[in-house]
Amino acid sequence: MRLLLLFAFLTSVNSLKILGIFPYAGKSHFVVFEVLLKELAKRGHQVTVVSEFPQKQPIQNYKDIALEKSPNMEIINIADMPPPFIRKYAILKYLVQAAWETCDKLNQKPIRELINSADKYDLLLIEYFNTDCFLGFAHKFKVPFIGLSSCYDMPWSGERVANPTNPAYIPNHFGNFNINMNFWERLENTVLHVYTNIIYSTLMQGDEIAKKHFGDDLPPLHVLARNTSLFLVNTLPALNGVRPKVPSFVEIGGMNIGKSKRVSPTVSRAYNTNR
Ligand SMILES: *[C@@H]1O[C@H](CO)[C@@H](O)[C@H](O)[C@H]1NC(C)=O
Repeated sequence: MRLLLLFAFLTSVNSLKILGIFPYAGKSHFVVFEVLLKELAKRGHQVTVVSEFPQKQPIQNYKDIALEKSPNMEIINIADMPPPFIRKYAILKYLVQAAWETCDKLNQKPIRELINSADKYDLLLIEYFNTDCFLGFAHKFKVPFIGLSSCYDMPWSGERVANPTNPAYIPNHFGNFNINMNFWERLENTVLHVYTNIIYSTLMQGDEIAKKHFGDDLPPLHVLARNTSLFLVNTLPALNGVRPKVPSFVEIGGMNIGKSKRVSPTVSRAYNTNR
C-alpha cells in the first residue's frame, strides 16, 4: 500500500519548465494559446510566457514576461483595405510590416534579459505566424520546440514538419479556396503559393535581425525550423476540409480543453429551428 502511495506521488513531480513565446500583438491569436498555457500550469508545469497579454490575476505556476503593448492593434479597418480580388495579395504588405514590428521586440529589455539569462527550460512553445525571428530561443536554450498556429497554417509552416503543401490540392491560407478547386482556382492557388513563400523567405522570416540578437552561430531559421517536434494547428476537418497530414501536424480546432459551457436555450432553439 505504501509503495502504491509512493507511485501516486511520483507522477505529481513529473513537471516541465515550459517557455511560451507569443510576440505577435494580436489578442485573437493569444487567446487560443492562453487556454493551453493555463491548462499546462494547472497540471503542475512551470509555464513562463512571453507576450503582450500578461494575466490580470496571478496564476499558480504561470509567470509572465510582458512585452510593451503595441499601439494601433485594436482595430483594423476593413474599409482601408484594397478590394477583395487583390486583398489576398496586398494583405502580405500588412503582415510584412507586422513581422518587422514583432522582430523589433527582440530589442525590449525583458527579451534581452532572457537572451542573456542562464535559465533552463525543457520545452518551448512558439507561434508560427508571420516571422521566425524569435525561434532563436530554440537555439539558445537547445530544447525541443512545438509550433502553434491560431488559424489555418501559413503557406510556409507546413513544410517544416514535412506536411504536404502541394498547391494542386492544398488550399493556400490566403486564397480562401475550398478543398475542391477547379482548374483556374488551382492555378491561382499555385501562384499564391509561390508568391507568399517568396515574400516570406525574403521579407518576413527574420534571419538578419535574429542573428543580431542571438549571435552569428544561429543556423538559418528555415533549417532550425525543420527541427519542430510537433505543430498544433487551430483547424478542424469539418470546417477547413480534409487534407493529408503527417503525424506531427495535429489539428486542435477550437482548443477544447477547458470545461465546455452549456449553450443557452435561446441559441440552441435557434440552431434547431434553422436546421
Ligand atoms: C536539429 O536537431 C538535431 C538533433 O537534436 C541536432 O543535432 C541539430 O543540430 C539540430 N539542428 C539545428 C539547426 O539546430
